[in-house]
Amino acid sequence: MDWSETTWIVITCGRGCAGALQGELRALGFDPQEVSPTTVGVEGHLQDAMRLNLWLRTANRVLFEVAGFEIDSADDLYAAARELPWEMWLRGDIPFHVHGVARHDSIRDPRFALLRCKDAIADRFVEQTGARPNSTSTPDGAACIALYWKERSIQFFLDTTGVPLSHRGYRWKPWTAPLRETLAAAILLELGWPKTPAEAFIGPMCGSGTLAIEAAWIAQRRAPGLEREDYAFLHLNNVDTAAWRALKDEARQQFMAAPRTWIAASDIAPPAIACARDNAARADVENLIRFHTCDFRETPLPKPPMLILMNPEYGERLGVEERLVTLYESIGTWFKAQNQDTRAAVFTGNLPLGRKIGLRPVRRLPMWNGDLECRLLEYNIYEGTRDPRLLRKHASAPPPEV
Ligand SMILES: C[S@@+](CC[C@H](N)C(=O)[O-])C[C@H]1O[C@@H](n2cnc3c(N)ncnc32)[C@H](O)[C@@H]1O
Repeated sequence: MDWSETTWIVITCGRGCAGALQGELRALGFDPQEVSPTTVGVEGHLQDAMRLNLWLRTANRVLFEVAGFEIDSADDLYAAARELPWEMWLRGDIPFHVHGVARHDSIRDPRFALLRCKDAIADRFVEQTGARPNSTSTPDGAACIALYWKERSIQFFLDTTGVPLSHRGYRWKPWTAPLRETLAAAILLELGWPKTPAEAFIGPMCGSGTLAIEAAWIAQRRAPGLEREDYAFLHLNNVDTAAWRALKDEARQQFMAAPRTWIAASDIAPPAIACARDNAARADVENLIRFHTCDFRETPLPKPPMLILMNPEYGERLGVEERLVTLYESIGTWFKAQNQDTRAAVFTGNLPLGRKIGLRPVRRLPMWNGDLECRLLEYNIYEGTRDPRLLRKHASAPPPEV
């Protein structure tokens, strides 16, 4: 199989992350096209797909298109899939896994479409090689095929990723309500952190530490896929593994083990800090992050410039609303007490609570945490922001209970 042919590559992402993903693609030299809320397309060949898997922070999967048809039934799907030269793309000795989306009047259960696709691939293999390959229900260690069937149109892809890129592998112990790693990276990229090499990152209310760890990886210019071993493209037929090693060597040359960046993470709950430390150790950035167990207002701060980014509870999965009103008000008061040259941002799933911060955001960006529509609220702190009445009101208030 010659993998040097250019095809259409579709990159999937969480809702609200497509803007950050396009920025990443441009920085890698691609021309993003056909953008939807959860996908961005580029042209490229298999080596490009490898590079995207290695470098993209905000993507879930990199899908390499192999064919597209118009069909009317699951029988048509079987016939279309059986025409394709799977024996050239896949290896008979490695199991294959089929996943995807199927929405058509003729089928009630999308799993039926996946099953018909699986049968077609196996039957084609038997016809062409005399041997039936195994299929598997999980993407681990498998070659992966994705199908996207909507109304009459069906596209077949080789999913070059397998286990989604959001599973970075460092978070064995999530604390309550963790952000997905790819969403955390998209938030940081949307905020353009670091705006200057000197800008510090402060992550109060860090929970399992996802934002601080992703910030550390960005500061290190670490390709997020550098240490990951299993990618579905490695299980395709005749893959240029030397090219893959060269891409990783190039990424290692760009990696800076110890960038001179101030990164801090704090949380009021000792088990959250223990968990964030463990995760940071697995991500190999424990020494880059200053951890503190304290109320967010006690987090030791460096001199500006800095970005303070927090993801407080927002009542959907944690916390009680009334207590949270006081918490959000006190976040605003604390922001107002900061010096100029500080940027502050809050990621929340509760807009009425966000308004309690009492500052006018310079930006309100919709982003989704799973199915929940959230907002990234960004504030610039300047001298006029300080309100002496509010500072007095919250100066003596005890920290909200957790
Ligand atoms: C939604 S979780 C953060 C999740 C985090 N973004 C992650 O990816 O794991 C909110 C965190 O705020 C912490 N918290 C609540 N009130 C606090 C306070 N007053 N000071 C510091 N941390 C607080 C909680 O312990 C919890 O870990």
